[in-house]
Amino acid sequence: MATIPAQDLTRVDLSDLSLWEDGPPHELFSRMRDEHPVHWSPLGGFPWEAGFWSVTRYEDIAWVGRDWETFSSERGGILAVNQFMETPPPGAPEDPLALQRLMMISQDPPRHDRLKALVQRAFTPKRALDHTERMRDIINGAYDRALERNPDGHFDLVQDVGVYVPAMVIGDMLGVPREDAFKLVDWTNRTTAFEDPRVVKDIEDTWVALQEVFGYVHQIVEARKAHPQDDLTSALLQAEVDDEHLTDEQVIMFWFLLMVAGNDSTRATFTSGMRSLLEDPEQLALVRDGDVTREQAIEEFVRYHPAFAYMRRTAMKDTEIAGQPIAEGDKVLLWFVSGNRDASVFEDPHRFDVRRDPNAHQGFGGGGRHFCLGAGLARLEMQIWLEETLRRFPGLRLDGAGDRLASTFLNQNRSIPVAV
Ligand code: HEM
Repeated sequence: MATIPAQDLTRVDLSDLSLWEDGPPHELFSRMRDEHPVHWSPLGGFPWEAGFWSVTRYEDIAWVGRDWETFSSERGGILAVNQFMETPPPGAPEDPLALQRLMMISQDPPRHDRLKALVQRAFTPKRALDHTERMRDIINGAYDRALERNPDGHFDLVQDVGVYVPAMVIGDMLGVPREDAFKLVDWTNRTTAFEDPRVVKDIEDTWVALQEVFGYVHQIVEARKAHPQDDLTSALLQAEVDDEHLTDEQVIMFWFLLMVAGNDSTRATFTSGMRSLLEDPEQLALVRDGDVTREQAIEEFVRYHPAFAYMRRTAMKDTEIAGQPIAEGDKVLLWFVSGNRDASVFEDPHRFDVRRDPNAHQGFGGGGRHFCLGAGLARLEMQIWLEETLRRFPGLRLDGAGDRLASTFLNQNRSIPVAV
């Protein structure tokens, strides 16, 4: 954990990327939970945008997340920033928030609940089991390809394997041919890693990527209208909400949400969790020897490395959180990376410990209406991934420092070199 010099917490701006170079600034979050649990950041890099409140304690994250009537996902979306440039470039959507609000993650009930209900049955833990063998096949195929390209057995766990597995799993469900998985990976990176200039050179590229996804999905939508298949795209087209079909635009944005949420998250949590295991031979042995279950190990992966550092809500009225007055319209960020290290809930919270049980983390959200749709699928996918990784590579080891994605939203390693 990076050591942060004593400083006045009120001057800290959590959106400052330099604080995140070595991963989430856990030491700062610990101090905030103790001294300043609802903290103001001015969002200095975006002076045309208002700053935000940070909710850092587990209990506060849980109740704010549940109170959707006071803390809306729809009013301001889920990101701290909506306008990335003071003057949007040509081709940028006129109102990026309007586009975001076509997705249920940026909607409030009742609209949100109706849309979620359309797909919830496809994502129950029981339905996830239907995909077991397919997932095993995808994981092994990804490792085979990584080894074909790197016959010396040195490869990158994130770039050569990690990015493809979730893309193919969710791609299969949406009806995307597997050979197009690399396109999903590219679009996901260019639309969500917008804080990292090594991935997105400028924000215009994000808009170009959005146009590309929309064009691609549009083609799949047209093909499924003509010939429905047993996939989620066809199911969305056939679904009715209040006796009406979804518009093409709604189907496309639903598709985009599933692609992004299913992709970025699972690869981030799994690869970072594997890195923690490889860094700690005692923990690795516990999992290898079956002293803890795969299920239990994966819960610690999600607690220790939640894929999304935060989700935003916006206050619908003047209110308060832990005694801090919050004005109507204020941005409120729920920092899951912080809730998951709250010592009032987790003993020795900064220790990665696969034996942790119970492990009621907030990695899939604090438990409100927006609790992760894909939690059952992601859990199973990561359990199988862990099983296959340990089975195939008894000598797997870290092989270099790797580096992190520059982001305050995505808690991700960009590279984890390994050798088998
Ligand atoms: C390790 C893997 C994953 C993690 C850590 C994760 C985490 C999260 C978090 C934190 C939220 C927001 C919760 C909130 O605001 O209260 C969320 C929402 C969501 N996730 Fe996941 N997720 C993962 C995998 C997936 C997968 C595989 C899918 C597949 C489709 C998925 C689909 C979604 C969707 C659609 C939402 C929005 C739900 C809503 O608005 O009701 N996620 N996820």
